[in-house]
Amino acid sequence: MKNLILKDKTAVITGSSRGLGFAIAQTYARAGAKIVIASRSPRSVDLAVDSLRKEGFEAVGLACDVADMQQVEALAELAIQTYGSIDIWVNNAGLSAPYGPTVHIPNTDFMDVVNTNIIGTYNGSMTAMRHFLKQGSGKLINLLGRGDTGSVPLQNAYSSSKVWVRNFTKALAQEYKDSGVEVIGFNPGLVMTEMLSKVHAVKGYEEQLSPLRFVAMLWGNEADVPAEKALWLASAATDGRSGLFVTVLTKWMMISRLIGLPFKYLFDRSTKLLDLNVTSVDPAVGD
Ligand SMILES: NC(=O)c1ccc[n+]([C@@H]2O[C@H](COP(=O)([O-])OP(=O)(O)OC[C@H]3O[C@@H](n4cnc5c(N)ncnc54)[C@H](OP(=O)(O)O)[C@@H]3O)[C@@H](O)[C@H]2O)c1
Repeated sequence: MKNLILKDKTAVITGSSRGLGFAIAQTYARAGAKIVIASRSPRSVDLAVDSLRKEGFEAVGLACDVADMQQVEALAELAIQTYGSIDIWVNNAGLSAPYGPTVHIPNTDFMDVVNTNIIGTYNGSMTAMRHFLKQGSGKLINLLGRGDTGSVPLQNAYSSSKVWVRNFTKALAQEYKDSGVEVIGFNPGLVMTEMLSKVHAVKGYEEQLSPLRFVAMLWGNEADVPAEKALWLASAATDGRSGLFVTVLTKWMMISRLIGLPFKYLFDRSTKLLDLNVTSVDPAVGD
């Protein structure tokens, strides 16, 4: 039986119908938290809630597009009505645009990333912070990602959105450092989810994604690995540590995996290349 370090806590996790968000929901639930599941697809939300309840956990859910402030507020309302309060809010919902040069990316795809990763994180953060500041406690965890400290050509929508999330989170932590609320940035590293395996590329750029198969085998983690780190971030261990930025894929992990790869390949039969599924999209403009 897991240590119930989140007993009596309520956690809202956006984008938690699958992937890392669902793994975080499961991990928090096993640690005693009451869970609020959310994503855009009502059916996926129901399935995720059912799956947690079948394991004997307390969970509710709501279809919620984080790009819409009213839907995000309704999500908070559901949590408060059902469980009385919110203690942990994870802005996990995230999207990436097709791989390719920025001008070739269809506007709608670029804007979906902006609306989910930037506007969605803003909506979730404001909703959570207004509640947390009133109650004088709470943990806000914002998901960072590749490129959050720099720029990544051919992945400009995603990487620049995560730069924004990092800076926004940092400023929020500075503004509210003595409030009793912890504001935390979390980069989960490479995670074996649909975001990694089901990707889109502008026509002509598909092949450039091939190395991802190998990179993921080398440095990818199953979602339960970053979810455990997210559990630590949500626990009392981070009390008073607002402004914390944590990354799962450290330089040390990258080097040690590189050195250990030949042995892993020889002795661990489960080691295999990522099952990469690339869908081509037409460029928004011609060359
Ligand atoms: N996978 C990685 O290697 C990796 C690396 C670094 C950072 N991250 C970050 O980790 C987070 C989770 O990624 P993941 O790999 O678990 O992705 P994923 O498997 O694609 O899952 C994304 C989740 O977000 C939901 N979602 C997408 N857009 C949404 C919106 N506008 N409103 C509400 N929910 C939305 C999806 O459900 P619906 O489609 O039903 O809405 C789904 O539940 C993201 O912030 C991502 O940037 C991932």
